[in-house]
Amino acid sequence: MAHRPLDVATVRRRFPGLLRREGDRQAIFFDGPAGSQVPRSVAEAMSHYLLHENANHGGPFSTSVATDAMCREAQLAMTDFFGTDDPEEIVFGPNMTTLTFQLSRALARTWQPGEEIVVTDSDHDANVTPWVLAARDADCTVQRVRVDAAAELDFEDLRQRIGPRTRLVAVGAASNLSGTIHDVARVAELARSHGALTFVDAVHYAAHCRLDASAWGADFVACSAYKFFGPHMGILQGRRVLLEELETYKVRPAADTGAEKWQHGTACFEGIAGTLAAVEYLAALGREHADPEPPDRRAALDAAFDVIHVHERELCARLLAGLQEIPDVRVVGIAAPDRLDGRCATVSITHPRHRPAELANALAERQIHTWAGNSYALALSAALGLEPDGVLRLGILHYATAEEVDTVLASLRELLV
Ligand SMILES: Cc1ncc(COP(=O)(O)O)c(C=O)c1O
Repeated sequence: MAHRPLDVATVRRRFPGLLRREGDRQAIFFDGPAGSQVPRSVAEAMSHYLLHENANHGGPFSTSVATDAMCREAQLAMTDFFGTDDPEEIVFGPNMTTLTFQLSRALARTWQPGEEIVVTDSDHDANVTPWVLAARDADCTVQRVRVDAAAELDFEDLRQRIGPRTRLVAVGAASNLSGTIHDVARVAELARSHGALTFVDAVHYAAHCRLDASAWGADFVACSAYKFFGPHMGILQGRRVLLEELETYKVRPAADTGAEKWQHGTACFEGIAGTLAAVEYLAALGREHADPEPPDRRAALDAAFDVIHVHERELCARLLAGLQEIPDVRVVGIAAPDRLDGRCATVSITHPRHRPAELANALAERQIHTWAGNSYALALSAALGLEPDGVLRLGILHYATAEEVDTVLASLRELLV
């Protein structure tokens, strides 16, 4: 499907947060990997729900019926977002970390002493520690897959660590520190060939690239709406047969089947409404830029991420080229212009004479929002020798502009003398 280049000016008008002025300058939001700004439509959907349809679900009266209908529509929207088909495979929760801890406990009940789980040095700790603690409780061994100096997964090492005793492989679709995109389909295939399950952390990936959980062949995929222009919510997609057969910690009156079995207590319905609106925002973006108009929401999301991908890759190339001209700056991970499809536009840097926190503080004084440290990708930061200071992380999302990239580069040139 052909598409027009991203109309950033129109996009930005939908995000009131981007208009924020600090002193005489407009704020620059390069903090997206820790949470994106939201379009007005997301905030409006949440306030509409709270003001006009607020109720617990499952009742016979109109607001409760509306709540159930909205939740079902949000599950359907999330199947389009994940690229899967069954709305009962979509579980909403407070965030990815909580959902992962919950799933890890349920899975660990099926593990036997001496069996193994595999985690990677590339992952955010939310895709490491829940599995490590669950393995400890079940008397299982943890295998850790190495990354190479370019922050890419070492597949040779992975191949050696997966074997007949492996029960689960936990891998990230993209690193929130280096931006590296991992071939999760290959990981899932390897896991499957040994009868192991795969859990994919798509939290970082989901704001930048089109999810395709079906093509990945993973058993579980998790992401967080607040990274893709929605509210603070987590979403887990799991193969239905597994969600049905696993035993969860739950209260007795709660449902024994379907996604409900995994949603503890009363759900954050306004957050679910906002998540639905975030998917709708992205689908509308796809519709506006595609030619001909996509036939359905799924195709509209395909188009949206095509457009986002092209725009972000241009900005990423511009940022990397500028960074390479600043003496002594080290870019973490993939930096070669012909390899940009292997990374998201999340660029982390270090400098031998300036600590990341010092730089983030100086940029904050210039109204440029960035993060310093390891961003919870502790294993990666340690494996690349970046601890204890970590990196300065510059996170580009689709609402960023070339002018913003140039302003950030100019500030870094001033600071890194
Ligand atoms: C790659 C990655 N995985 C997991 C998480 C944790 O997500 P949540 O805050 O939804 O628990 C984050 C949050 O920054 C992340 O970037």
